[in-house]
Order: sequence, then structure tokens, then C-alpha cells
Amino acid sequence: MTDKSLQLRYANMLSDAVGGVHGLVRDEIQHAAAEVAAVIRRVERERRSGMHRYRDLPLDRAMVRAVKAAVRRHRPSAENLVVLGIGGSALGNIALQTALNPAQHNLLPKSKRRGPRLFVMDNVDPTRFAALLDTLGDGLKRTCFNVISKSGETAETAAQFLIVRALLSSKLGKRALTRQLVVTTDPHSGTLRELADAEGYDTLPVPDGVGGRFSVLSAVGLFSATMCGVGIDALLRGAAEMSERVASARVLRNPAGMLALLLHANYERGKRIHVMFPYSDALRDLSDWCRQLWAESLGKRVDLEGRVVHAGPTPIHALGATDQHSQVQLYREGPNDKVFIFLEVDRFARDVRIPKMKGTPEPLRYLERSSLGALLSAEKRATELALLASERPCMTIRFPRISAHTAGQFIMLWEAATTIMGGLLNINPYDQPAVQLGKEYTFALMGKPGCAASLPATKTSPRQHERFVI
Ligand code: PA5
Repeated sequence: MTDKSLQLRYANMLSDAVGGVHGLVRDEIQHAAAEVAAVIRRVERERRSGMHRYRDLPLDRAMVRAVKAAVRRHRPSAENLVVLGIGGSALGNIALQTALNPAQHNLLPKSKRRGPRLFVMDNVDPTRFAALLDTLGDGLKRTCFNVISKSGETAETAAQFLIVRALLSSKLGKRALTRQLVVTTDPHSGTLRELADAEGYDTLPVPDGVGGRFSVLSAVGLFSATMCGVGIDALLRGAAEMSERVASARVLRNPAGMLALLLHANYERGKRIHVMFPYSDALRDLSDWCRQLWAESLGKRVDLEGRVVHAGPTPIHALGATDQHSQVQLYREGPNDKVFIFLEVDRFARDVRIPKMKGTPEPLRYLERSSLGALLSAEKRATELALLASERPCMTIRFPRISAHTAGQFIMLWEAATTIMGGLLNINPYDQPAVQLGKEYTFALMGKPGCAASLPATKTSPRQHERFVI
């Protein structure tokens, strides 16, 4: 571990800090470590037989070469990059952009940006999509569209894609499709793959064995990041370093092992709500990405033996200091059923001094000559102390600074922790049967041939439904 490494600081999860009822005692941790170590050893064995493929992404040089070659083809002519995708095919792209480019990237003049303006369309809200098309306007011919769908079937992405395909074709001619589209999808199969091959679109692969929410370090996340000037070599180096750290069966030195251990021990004690609290706007969307990873991977009806367990912690996302003023009342005085995971930054990329000025009223003078960074850091410490006063367990993931290198570490840390937590809960973290069902019902409701039969018969008639409308 170096001074450039993320740190997991968990003293405030222990009974010394939170009290005997809500804090863990050291013996408990030693005891749980044996179980966690067994999961880690199994995962490392399984990796040798081709499982947990996301762990190999940081060392996939061929993939990086393919991404950079695609960027060389598209960046020179792109003033806008529009990503069409949803869930695991969008949240990582948003997270990398928010963490690693200036907050107002799209508003900066071209000379101050490291790449095109980026629009990630992860919904089919018609007003937002129409507004995007208005925004592009005459810039359509200078816009690259990256369509991302592993399955190539997802209705939301397919609908957006069909709109864009028709627009490019009618406004700029069919050749625009091969010049301005980059399709990131399964390398071998799926409707999108077949169409892309048939019509000659530029494509990038979603690697075999890597599911949507574990794919940010593949072409799924790397193409838009590189287009917008993010240093993906440093990102992948950080992820590779973390991948080494999380392979260790010495659990007390393994940050993913300890994260899973602490969260699982609290889960067993009934603290099943995990609040991630970044004290940095740049980390807000990484926390959002994490929420999907945790929820979709760990929320499962059955365990590996097929027993009904309805497992899964509930991840909540809060932003410091903003949500101190919206959620902390509940967190301190509501049910003690949560664990708080703060994200803290040691050194912000920029800081803003609070100037001293004649006439500042005495009650505000304490702020003078301080800075917004110092205030935000103090607020994090203050909130944690206040939560501890209410016996709420807290831990902190500390970024020495926010960079591609530390973002890569963070991503791999949570992906590996998810795998280990899945092992502790004895569930499969890589499937999402409940999401799948919703997708199939959408197909049926939208009239996709052959899908109507998948809709369940409703137990109540339309007339009964009308009776319960006010
Ligand atoms: O993590 C997942 O598997 C999901 O969130 C998918 O990424 C999401 O449903 C989109 O699927 P696809 O990439 O197949 O369009």
C-alpha cells in the first residue's frame, strides 16, 4: 500500500467507538475473518478456471488497443458524444465522467475541454430525449453515438438507437451510420451484433463472462472515458493494483475482504441498510454506480442451493454535505438499522478560499480565511461524530485525491467486495432474474412477437382497478 492507495478506515465500526450493542468486538472480526478467507480462496481458485472475468479486465491490453484505435477514428470529428445505454451499460460511463472531468465539462469552451461534450442517455424520457436532439441541432454531423447493450435486446436502448439510426440516415445519408456509430455489444451474438455486422457499423466488444454492472473497465466504460480525455491507463493500473490487494486471504489486510466482512457482520445483526455518503460532488456518481452493483448483485430470492432466502442489503445514496440537511435527522434518531460508508478526499483538486472582508458580521468571521474544502472536510468529521454519538456504525473510504488511478482502485474494490459478499450470502451475484422478467414484460406490453404469453394473468379486472382510483 502506498500513499496513493485508497484506505478503508473502520475503527468507528467497533464497540470501542459505537458501544457494545451496535459495535463489533475484535474477537467477532477474527472469527468472521476465517469465513471470509475461505470465500476469497474459493474465488481465487475459480478465477483460474475462467470465472470472475471482470478481475482480468485491467490487464487486457488487446481491449485497450481496440478502444484507443476506435477513439482515434472518432475523436477528430466528434464535438459531441452521445452514449445510449441503461443500467450497467451507462452508470459506469456517468461515474467516470463525473469523477474525472470538471463538473461543468459540457459548458466549457472547446479549447478548455479534453474531448467532446458527453451526453449519457440512460432513460427513455421523451422530453429529455427530444431536448437532446434539439441541443445537437446542426451539430448532428459532428456527433458520435456509442450504443451500448451487451444483450443487444434491451428495449430502452433499442428504441433510442432506432431513433438515432433513422435520423442519421435521413438527415446525413446512410454512410453516416458507418461513420458516426460505435456499437458496444456481445462480440458473437444478439440482434444488435447481427445488425452492426450486416450494416458495417464500427463495433467494440463486451467481453464474454462480464455482466453489465461489472463492465465499466471494459470497452463499455473505456470508450467514452478515453474520448473525453480520461487517462484509462492510470485507471486500469489502479484497478490492477487493487485486484492484487483483494486476492489476499489475509483478510485483515484485504480491503474488499474487510468491507464484505464488516457489512456482512452488520447484516447478520439486522443492519441491512448501507448508506454511502461521499463528501465530494465528483464521487457522487461513483456512489450511484456502487448502488446498482450492490443492489442488483446481492438482492436475490434464492441461494445457491435453491432455497428461498430473499437476501440482500439495501444501498442508499446520500451526498455530503447536502444530505446532512435532508437525511441525517432520520439517520441519527430513526431506526438503528444502517451502516454508514463515508467517502472522503484528502486533497481536493481545487479549493476556494473564503476571503476576509471588512464588514463581515462577527458570527460569520470564523469562516474567513478558511476554505470550502476545509469546511466540507469538517462537515464530514462532524457528521460522523454525531452519528457515533447516536451509536451508529461508520466507516470511511479515504481517497488521497480523486484521480483515474484512485477511481480504478475504488471500482475494483467494490466489484471484488460484491463477489465476496455474494459468497458470504451464498447467492449468485452475477445474475439478475428479477430484472430480466421486467424486460420480458415490457417486450410483451410493447407487442414484440412471441412475447405476449410471458405476461401473467392479472388477478383483478380493469373494472376493479378503476374502482380504486380517486
Ligand atoms: O447489470 C446489468 O446486467 C444490467 O443493469 C444491464 O447492464 C442493463 O439491464 C442493460 O442491459 P444490456 O447491456 O444488455 O442492454
